[in-house]
Amino acid sequence: MEANAWYAPISCKPLFASSRLLPAFHTHSFLRSLSLSQRDSSLFFGEVHCSAFGAGSALKSKMVKICCIGAGYVGGPTMAVIALKCPSIEVAVVDISKSRIAAWNSEQLPIYEPGLDGVVKQCRGKNLFFSTDVEKHVFEADIVFVSVNTPTKTQGLGAGKAADLTYWESAARMIADVSKSDKIVVEKSTVPVKTAEAIEKILTHNSKGIKFQILSNPEFLAEGTAIQDLFNPDRVLIGGRETPEGQKAIQALKDVYAQWVPEERILTTNLWSAELSKLAANAFLAQRISSVNAMSALCEATGANVQQVSYSVGTDTRIGPKFLNASVGFGGSCFQKDILNLVYICECNGLPEVAEYWKQVIKINDYQKSRFVNRVVSSMFNTVSNKKIAILGFAFKKDTGDTRETPAIDVCQGLLGDKANLSIYDPQVTEDQIQRDLSMNKFDWDHPIHLQPTSPTTVKKVSVVWDAYEATKDAHGLCILTEWDEFKTLDYQRIFDNMQKPAFVFDGRNIVDADKLREIGFIVYSIGKPLDPWLKDMPAVA
Ligand code: UDX
Ligand code: ADP
Repeated sequence: MEANAWYAPISCKPLFASSRLLPAFHTHSFLRSLSLSQRDSSLFFGEVHCSAFGAGSALKSKMVKICCIGAGYVGGPTMAVIALKCPSIEVAVVDISKSRIAAWNSEQLPIYEPGLDGVVKQCRGKNLFFSTDVEKHVFEADIVFVSVNTPTKTQGLGAGKAADLTYWESAARMIADVSKSDKIVVEKSTVPVKTAEAIEKILTHNSKGIKFQILSNPEFLAEGTAIQDLFNPDRVLIGGRETPEGQKAIQALKDVYAQWVPEERILTTNLWSAELSKLAANAFLAQRISSVNAMSALCEATGANVQQVSYSVGTDTRIGPKFLNASVGFGGSCFQKDILNLVYICECNGLPEVAEYWKQVIKINDYQKSRFVNRVVSSMFNTVSNKKIAILGFAFKKDTGDTRETPAIDVCQGLLGDKANLSIYDPQVTEDQIQRDLSMNKFDWDHPIHLQPTSPTTVKKVSVVWDAYEATKDAHGLCILTEWDEFKTLDYQRIFDNMQKPAFVFDGRNIVDADKLREIGFIVYSIGKPLDPWLKDMPAVA
């Protein structure tokens, strides 16, 4: 049984079930049924291509075919928006996971992303298709995007830091295997610097005379705002070879984005700059959060208010106001993984000081999560053993059902380590996913679903409920770990009345009105805010 649990549906929790799968790219039956002459291999790099794709004319004169390998959080929404904005392009999104493709073809999409539903409904079946027939669509495509998993290696050279390119490599080998015409291959998933070079080698050494151009086109969308980010990106980055063929390929991809993105926002660079820019952008963003989180610890120690500090800091136009919200820690599939990658690349290039600098961003993030756990435990008489603790929010941020690297995992594991009983509620994350996350080894989440454990080990002291009131009933404390809007408007008086006393609120996202809650009778901890008198006497580190 293959579970698709890390994808929550649009309107309610998913039902999981589908068959266990094997990668589809080992058989080439489709190709055997086609003759070589059925495809024009000069399309992209000969005259036809140049005129077809030159100066934006292509998209009118010929049906361009795009195939995206990997129907995940990046591939699915990005391709849906390309299909919407470019009606003359046929877009096929392919994946080895049957259940994921079935969900993309159903009423309940496999990922929860505001606005995605409407975009998919407008294009699906017209110029947007979801399929498990990976080879067929790669064979037919002019441009192949690759957006597959890039987990952190858990074994061997670079374990715990370097990216595991197994899935990338098998995708590249499959592309080389099935292609009978020239193609542009686009790196979409974040990959370590110089991946394009490795992929290029695989493709050219297996090319059988077919020409491949590799481009790096990293995606900058953030989950929860993916559709608006794709509609109106700060920039689109396209890296390619500095050869005439490389430049033509860049232009071809530029022509696609130019259908809706202003030309001045489409940046072109060499391959390595594009790859490194993505890692650097994520590292800078994560660094801002670790900076403000480091300040939050100092604010608690000194009586300052981190929200006032970050507001003051952010009004400096050189710094800017965004991404300065103190929290229980950053999560998501990118930040930690990309920084680990950066660290590894620095170490490999003989730059240990630079590596140490970036490592610190992750260390502060880990510190912030354990500091939060320590606050909970130390506030509650130094033990949560057998106490019911309600966890509100499990996703790594609001407006997504994604739990990859969510700080909730570490916080829950910390509380379970002190023998707490957890009652968890998240509006978009399923019980199966939560159990899976709490029992999975570090980094195991980043593998295709069919390679993950089929039925997660149930963590006994965890129950998952569908309502915040149910989660908090008879609880000693409640922890807010995701900033879902609905948590701001809960009836906290009702919650207080049904909790054990003293009743504690630990707000890991600074979303509740602490003063109001104190009036009700709660003891409140808010990250980086002046401490409740109760907490002042308790040590910050238990
Ligand atoms: C990030 C990048 O923003 C995006 O450009 C890239 O393509 C992928 O990685 P994402 O991980 O989807 O996007 O979400 P993001 O909004 O960046 O949030 C990441 C984490 O940081 C979340 O856990 C969020 O809650 C946390 N965060 C964000 C804070 O704790 N404080 C902030 O001020 C902002
Ligand atoms: P991202 O957040 O980068 O989109 P996801 O993990 O959500 O990452 O998606 C990656 C997708 O790639 C998964 O759905 C996985 O099944 C798919 N995938 C991995 N390897 C292959 C492959 N060789 N062929 C087709 N799909 C693949």
